[in-house]
Amino acid sequence: MNYAKKVDVLLGLQWGDEGKGKLVDWFADQYDIIARFQGGANAGHTIIIDGKKYILHLIPSGVLRGKIVLIGMNVVVDPIVLVEEMKALEAEGIPIKDRLKISDGANFVLPTHRWLDKAIEKSMGESKIGSTLKGIGPAYTDKVSRNGVKIGLVNDLDEFHARYKALKAKNMGDLKNFPIVDFDIVTEEEKFFRAIQYLLDLEIVETSNWVHEQLAAGKKILAEGAQGTLLDIDWGTYPYVTSSNTCTAGVCTGLGVSPKQIGKVIGVVKAYASRVGYGPFPTKLTDKTGEQLQTIGQEIGATTGRKRDCGWIDLPLLRYAIRLNGVDKIIVTKVDVLDSLETIYVCTHYEYEDREIDIWDPAIPLSKVIPIYQEYRGWQQPTTGIKELAMLPDALRHYVFDVFENQLGIEVVGICNGADRDDYVDACRTLYPKIETTEVVST
Ligand code: IMP
Ligand code: MG
Repeated sequence: MNYAKKVDVLLGLQWGDEGKGKLVDWFADQYDIIARFQGGANAGHTIIIDGKKYILHLIPSGVLRGKIVLIGMNVVVDPIVLVEEMKALEAEGIPIKDRLKISDGANFVLPTHRWLDKAIEKSMGESKIGSTLKGIGPAYTDKVSRNGVKIGLVNDLDEFHARYKALKAKNMGDLKNFPIVDFDIVTEEEKFFRAIQYLLDLEIVETSNWVHEQLAAGKKILAEGAQGTLLDIDWGTYPYVTSSNTCTAGVCTGLGVSPKQIGKVIGVVKAYASRVGYGPFPTKLTDKTGEQLQTIGQEIGATTGRKRDCGWIDLPLLRYAIRLNGVDKIIVTKVDVLDSLETIYVCTHYEYEDREIDIWDPAIPLSKVIPIYQEYRGWQQPTTGIKELAMLPDALRHYVFDVFENQLGIEVVGICNGADRDDYVDACRTLYPKIETTEVVST
């Protein structure tokens, strides 16, 4: 067996919203196929091209570069969202029907899954997860309990309808255990079945066979992560996580490739941290600086419209995410959001029960750790529009390279300094001499 043909991976190392959409769009030029391997319409990837904003939830971001896109096995697909998204792209002159392939094994999100998501969240009161209410948790629950309705079933509509009816009945039964919430099932079902008609024209593929055929034909594939490492169902901040494996291992189960066929892994990190929904966030800022990052960074959920909490970079979490995913290179996004700050803080380690923690583990309760910070000088000048590494302020280069290369030991290959597709600085180290580390003041 020849394992030489590999799939590269691009994923987020924090709690999602690192700016992956823009980067996948940017990287897509180097690939033939972009594939989503997990998650569903809970994702929100924003790409701005010449000031025009595109938000994608289910369709991989490479679609805007005219590439073939695949929705993989471990994605849960709400056909209503998918068809809306396809139509919106078509209206913009971006036809996609012939370029979109869907795994026969991906599972449907039924209207009753969204209904359940809402009802379950309501029942949890104070301890709720803050789910996106897209039906993600219930859809994966039914997949794992072997009640799921798979996309491939639409090739046999009788069987599809029978499975749909059975799952709907199960969900309706489950709903009786939860508080009543508003949900217009009649309208939602109408939309669902209309969307199914539209899906019948798409190419449904045998995932692993298709992926291997493409690799054998010399096609280059990029796997696009959704959400972020710390939202991984197993390795994230459980229970405040999403319901799929967002880490590199998920690429294998989502696309049907072996671990030997994982190529380069590119990690995306925002120059600060953010989190939407509930769950512990040790470096969260509850002061004016937090609000400032939220406003300047436009930290409002692309899927839910909720405001995201903001805070400082957290190295124990990043070291963990880098090791878990096998990250080779890092791209740092949204550095421009820090432009006006006089001082920037970075959590270098935690104190926890008389221990010093450099690298997190899910066994360590994040709500109980004490973050210890190191101070960096801000650059206090605008940086959007700067194209060359050498033209960026010294303090910015120092922050980026000291934190991500010296402290984390991973090469930084790109810096994003604005929201537009072209706001990007090629940061490949070979283009610039090593940054000295003497300016850092420890606190
Ligand atoms: P769910 O994925 O809708 O079940 O939501 C579970 C948790 O993951 C919630 O805290 C959500 O806010 C969070 N989440 C889900 N998708 C994303 C995403 O794409 N970006 C950031 N957070 C997300
Ligand atoms: Mg997002």
